[in-house]
Amino acid sequence: MLRKNSPRLDAQAIEKMRVVGRFACSLLDMVEAMVRPGITTLDIDKAVHRATRERGAVSAPYGYTGGGAHPFPKHCCTSVNEVVCHGIPHAKVVLKEGDIINVDVTPIIDGYHGDTSRTFMVGEVTAEAKKLVQDTHEAMRRGIAAVKPGGHVGDIGHAIQSFAEPMGYGVVEQFAGHGIGKVFHDSPSISHVGRRGKGEVLLPGMTFTVEPMLNLGTAFCVVDKRDHWTARTYDGALSAQFEHTVTVTNDGVEILTLPDDRPLDLTVAD
Ligand code: MF3
Ligand code: CO
Ligand code: CO
Repeated sequence: MLRKNSPRLDAQAIEKMRVVGRFACSLLDMVEAMVRPGITTLDIDKAVHRATRERGAVSAPYGYTGGGAHPFPKHCCTSVNEVVCHGIPHAKVVLKEGDIINVDVTPIIDGYHGDTSRTFMVGEVTAEAKKLVQDTHEAMRRGIAAVKPGGHVGDIGHAIQSFAEPMGYGVVEQFAGHGIGKVFHDSPSISHVGRRGKGEVLLPGMTFTVEPMLNLGTAFCVVDKRDHWTARTYDGALSAQFEHTVTVTNDGVEILTLPDDRPLDLTVAD
């Protein structure tokens, strides 16, 4: 079978990815500072829209169809509690103490996309919710730590799945990480479950997201029939997600959606 290799970005393109990636990070820093009980998810969207416009950037989510027939109507995704991903900001969704909310931003600068998300806790949350959020961040960290030249796409899913499933979490399979650059959702597809040594070989310059979603119950998700975007857990249990855009380097991996002075420690004890 003839199989096309996934795109690899050159040094100039990766520098542009760093620029937009750092800006995407700054958007989440801004959101983090405003998350508290009483604000709405539309307030978050308005702030993301304004900051993006002021930077001379564009929000990739706005009007995005993903090849389907339903343009996404807002500038970021806001996914509260049992919403797994692609939640649509709305004036009627008011954050309350105890909620968890993932905010996912993807600005475009100079044609390149920076895709990153974090899950925030609103005031005091249950111990179970806090552990879910912390464990989901750790799952993403382990997935990223598995990226190296000569490795395989399956190494990433294996690292995430083998960490999360023994603790009883449902690892979402219906949504995956993705190649990214001038294109928002490109190859390769980065499944968050997998087997070590399987899948496409990772080569320097390949640029993609790692964005695991962990559920407190079943991994299965259902997309809202009316808005065609909001994905919820089938059983209504909580879901959390973290996402970074990364690139394969000559000796490992670089996170593009963090500034140099805030490195993520990628050491994994074995
Ligand atoms: N940022 C999401 C991702 O991580 C995609 C959002 S598409 C949208 O891939 F249209 F819902 F915004
Ligand atoms: Co995203
Ligand atoms: Co993404």
